Amino acid sequence: RGLFGGGGESVQPQTLQDVAENIRERRCKRVVVMAGAGISTPSGIPDFRTCRSPGSGLYDNLQQYDLPYAEAIFEIGFFHRNPNPFFALAKELYPGNYQPNLTHYFVRLLHQKGQLLRMYTQNIDGLERHQVAGVPPEMLVEAHGTFATATCTSCLRKYDGEELRPEVMSGAVPRCPTCKGVVKPDIVFFGEELPLSFFKYLTDFPLADLLIVMGTSLEVEPFASLAGAVRSSVPRLLINRDLVGPFAWGRRPHDVTQLGDVVTGVKELVDALGWTQELDALMAAGSQEV
Ligand code: APR
Repeated sequence: RGLFGGGGESVQPQTLQDVAENIRERRCKRVVVMAGAGISTPSGIPDFRTCRSPGSGLYDNLQQYDLPYAEAIFEIGFFHRNPNPFFALAKELYPGNYQPNLTHYFVRLLHQKGQLLRMYTQNIDGLERHQVAGVPPEMLVEAHGTFATATCTSCLRKYDGEELRPEVMSGAVPRCPTCKGVVKPDIVFFGEELPLSFFKYLTDFPLADLLIVMGTSLEVEPFASLAGAVRSSVPRLLINRDLVGPFAWGRRPHDVTQLGDVVTGVKELVDALGWTQELDALMAAGSQEV
């Protein structure tokens, strides 16, 4: 039994079924999940990079706002000059417009089983959240921020995201009643610091006994590098349409890849775990609450 063994010797996985066996037999009890836009495309939110053809992909759809280049929407300098494109996006992504899918509920189930160490998401749609798919706040690191809170760019007064809702939904740029500065949702822009919670990775990743990466291109730092922060003996499972990051160029012996649609991949894992009925029940209850 290894130092971190827990419930017995981990089978070094070769396939999705092996990974499932390790989770089912509770050999993996400290699972870290890393996720990106690809887990929310099944909910109808377009992702950032894969859909390069005009008219598809979130960034392409924003071209109507005359952005100099797509990523400008998340650049703080550009935002100060012209916040309108960002607030057009905010109106679209504001909590309530989209529903979580099977991938989000899978993470909640992993938590309910007591086997989730933490979920790290790059998504700003909030679909993982406690009030939505049901991942509790202490289990979730929203590495690129959230619409749930906001800050005045001028006097730094803090707001609840709900206070901004009427203005955002009407297509206006929200202003601070105190100083008239623009109030910016606490989304992390390029050139801004990541939230302090991100640094939980320093203690989480060395403890992890399985890493599941899903729906991300692993192109944006520092998030992308977290995939290399688990111990080298720890199995990593990628569920994604294509090979990304270290799964493409720095493969480790215990890496497993499940290529294709993320919902199909997660479903296959859940089936192999024997958790299908429980997950269905969670999803049914979740959609009723909504
Ligand atoms: N099934 C499987 N994989 C999918 C699916 C799907 N239904 N939809 C998309 N993907 C995959 C794509 O193939 C791609 O590899 O998900 C990945 C999405 O990559 P990106 O669009 O780059 O999203 P993400 O990795 O989250 O981007 C990171 O970039 O612009 C910034 O701050 C923004 O958080 C974002 C960050």
